[in-house]
Amino acid sequence: MRIGLLTSGGDCAGLNAVIRAVTLRAVLGYGFEVWGIREATHGLLKRPVAAERLTPDSVKGILHLGGTILGTTNRGNPFAYPSLDGVPVDRSDEIVAGYHELGLDALIGVGGDGSLAILRRLAQKGGWNLVGIPKTIDNDLGHTERSVGFSTAVDIATEAVDRLHVTAASHNRVMVLEVMGRDAGHIALHAGIAGGADVILIPEIPYDIEKVCAKIEARRASGRNFSLVVVAESVRAVDGEVQTYTDAHGQSRYGGIGRVIAEAIARRTGAESRVTVLGHVQRGGSPVALDRVLAAAFGVHAVDLVAQRRFDRVVGWQNRRVVDLPLAEACAAFKAVDPHDPLVWTARGLGISFGD
Ligand code: F6P
Repeated sequence: MRIGLLTSGGDCAGLNAVIRAVTLRAVLGYGFEVWGIREATHGLLKRPVAAERLTPDSVKGILHLGGTILGTTNRGNPFAYPSLDGVPVDRSDEIVAGYHELGLDALIGVGGDGSLAILRRLAQKGGWNLVGIPKTIDNDLGHTERSVGFSTAVDIATEAVDRLHVTAASHNRVMVLEVMGRDAGHIALHAGIAGGADVILIPEIPYDIEKVCAKIEARRASGRNFSLVVVAESVRAVDGEVQTYTDAHGQSRYGGIGRVIAEAIARRTGAESRVTVLGHVQRGGSPVALDRVLAAAFGVHAVDLVAQRRFDRVVGWQNRRVVDLPLAEACAAFKAVDPHDPLVWTARGLGISFGD
């Protein structure tokens, strides 16, 4: 068999570990040919298709590297592709044809909810044999307990909280850390607990700034003159809106809520406050062991699905083992933090405030 492999959507740690696992399993386990497609579906638009043959030799030494050797994009939906005159055009036919031009028997797509949904649409349109692998630092795919990249992002955010702790204590400051996660608060919740934050604000629990300040004042009253606040990028106050801005390409993006909260705290409590926006640092760097293990399990299982001709499925992680489910389920199931999640309870049990 000749299988294609592409990484799509925002990069994250562990993508190269997936590429390596897929290649080793496909070539060594089944004698398949693997073609790595460049820059997600963009590679399938090019003629000749932008792809390179992947072999155990060519994936040597990439396991621990961040990013993706294949490149990726989270722009350019094939069904509404940006054109020079600004009017989106449907280029899905060309992309569908790219798969056939490369003579593929199957495609393994590594992506988050948006990418997997687009790939599935293309697969249905073009008769592709598709298997999905979930990756996203946001960990918001409902069919899997963990997605590739999440654990590394949490580690990076936790380390940031540790570092901010030191400066918060030295200066008697309130340090606010804004983390990514798009519409879900998983990174903030995990890193906040792991780093010993005093306040964690997540989109699933709208916050009241007075309650946030009450927590900071209570710490002061008990002799602790500094506080750490971890904020997910898409949080909003009970009476407020999410903080977004429009970038140079006209895209609406999250960002800036950390500063809004830091200033509100400073105004109300008189405390000196500072804000750190962690941003894309959370996506780079070497994957932690858990992401490498997940990448290995996902890569091997995805190739096994191809070998068994079980297509239109996605791999996932449930109860400490790799599983597979219909791809449509993965695309449909968004996973937010449940406000009654045991981990939220854990945080409350430690005295952490959610500002509610
Ligand atoms: O989905 C991953 C993610 O890093 C989100 O947490 C964040 O909101 C977004 O992507 C940032 O996207 P971009 O790479 O386009 O800045």
